[in-house]
Amino acid sequence: MQCTHRLKHLYIETYGCQMNRLDSELLCGIFEAAGYERTQVREVADVILVNTCGVRAHAEQRTLGRISELGGLKRNKPELVLGVVGCMAQRLGEQIFEDHPYVDLVAGPDSYRGLPALIEEQITSRGAEGQRGRGDSPAPLLPCPPAGERRSGGVEALSLDPTETYEGLAPRREGTLKAWVAIMRGCNNFCSYCIVPYVRGRERSRSAEAILKEIQGLVGEGFQEVTLLGQNVNSYRDGDTEFAELLRRIDRETGIRRVRFTTSHPKELSDDVLRAIAEGASICEHLHLPLQSGSSKILKRMHRGYTADAYIQWVERARAMIPGLSVTTDVIAGFPGETDEDFEQTLEVMRRIRFDDAFTYRYSPREGTKAFEMPDDVSDAEKQRRLQAMIALQRTITGERNRALIGTKVEILVEAPSKRGEGVLGRTRTDKPVVVYDGKLEVGGWAMVEIVGSTGATLVGRV
Ligand code: SAM
Ligand code: SF4
Ligand code: F3S
Repeated sequence: MQCTHRLKHLYIETYGCQMNRLDSELLCGIFEAAGYERTQVREVADVILVNTCGVRAHAEQRTLGRISELGGLKRNKPELVLGVVGCMAQRLGEQIFEDHPYVDLVAGPDSYRGLPALIEEQITSRGAEGQRGRGDSPAPLLPCPPAGERRSGGVEALSLDPTETYEGLAPRREGTLKAWVAIMRGCNNFCSYCIVPYVRGRERSRSAEAILKEIQGLVGEGFQEVTLLGQNVNSYRDGDTEFAELLRRIDRETGIRRVRFTTSHPKELSDDVLRAIAEGASICEHLHLPLQSGSSKILKRMHRGYTADAYIQWVERARAMIPGLSVTTDVIAGFPGETDEDFEQTLEVMRRIRFDDAFTYRYSPREGTKAFEMPDDVSDAEKQRRLQAMIALQRTITGERNRALIGTKVEILVEAPSKRGEGVLGRTRTDKPVVVYDGKLEVGGWAMVEIVGSTGATLVGRV
């Protein structure tokens, strides 16, 4: 599209999980419809949005530092609108204006629909009466959009809307091969350590028809793979359609080549879902099934709703029903009350299950959650030691599992040129990266390759 002087520019930075990255694509779609073009150059932006994550304190601190840095751009360009959106914005709310007075807008995950209008009517319109400093009397309010309350210097849009699924709005996707598709938003689980239900509100599922239509549209545009997103996809429900049926219908009715999904909560992983994975030609043989802890005592304190033994049995069952299944997980070290013995049980479950990969975290207390009221009694040094032990163990297991694949043949979707420039990077159905140096493979193409080597987490394939 030709750039005209009337076109405004949006620059957006994203932190956090896949759901947040999809939300940024959604924001780009919403702003594009309002006459903005996305830019990668923050100096030319009229609006900068920082889409934030609040799941751990360390990530929040880094993002707040970044917000200060971006605030500096307003020295040369006072009319620039700086907005903080997403989960941390929802969590901290007005506090952000107090600590970062140059921020113009704070908006939570359910308030994106009306943001361009909110900016136009309540922030940029003040340019007409000259830029005002913080503490000056606020500009007279123009007719007010549904969300949006003017604070002393900025505008906040923080109401959680239990029905908002952004139906009818199209994300502006960054890729052309793989797309994220939200099938639900919010979470009802209230795991005792987790901020997500507080910042993203209650669980709500999108209609199956809308999801199918969206995926059919993506297939028409040439997309090869979708990842269905939800905090707990196993509790998806639209009328009589549960998650297993949704998978079957996507497999039968859309023509997409690969379907992935995340995250599965172990307590709701049914045999019906496992059968749908086993039987659906497009449904990939990969489960991301967060364990969180291998100690049943800690799992109870985490409010996870299962024991370590039940978890092990589910994984064994899933592996028996789905040949070649890969299983990845999330684990937290140093939850309140976690003794050496509890932690040893976590390592034991990791050794027993031999995950294909694990995302490991140090426990981070989050104000407002149940666990925040429990004494954070594992020292930072001990959390770090436990984290390192999990990382080392998982690295060994991942290496061993990958080496065991040498000699097998796998299908890959070629996703990108390899980082070193020669060859290409593809991915197996089980979500493992494969570099291929021979053959003339094109990005976007499919190939059967033989695994001939492995370097840690990456496999090496030959056509
Ligand atoms: N809904 C998913 C589930 O149930 O597993 C994951 C959502 S959460 C955004 C991603 C991971 O962050 C969690 O699985 C957990 O391991 C980790 N996490 C969440 N809160 C945490 C906290 N307070 N401290 C450390 N890790 C945390
Ligand atoms: Fe957080 Fe638990 Fe919900 Fe996952 S299921 S988002 S860990 S509360
Ligand atoms: Fe995701 Fe972080 Fe929010 S992990 S749901 S962006 S708190």
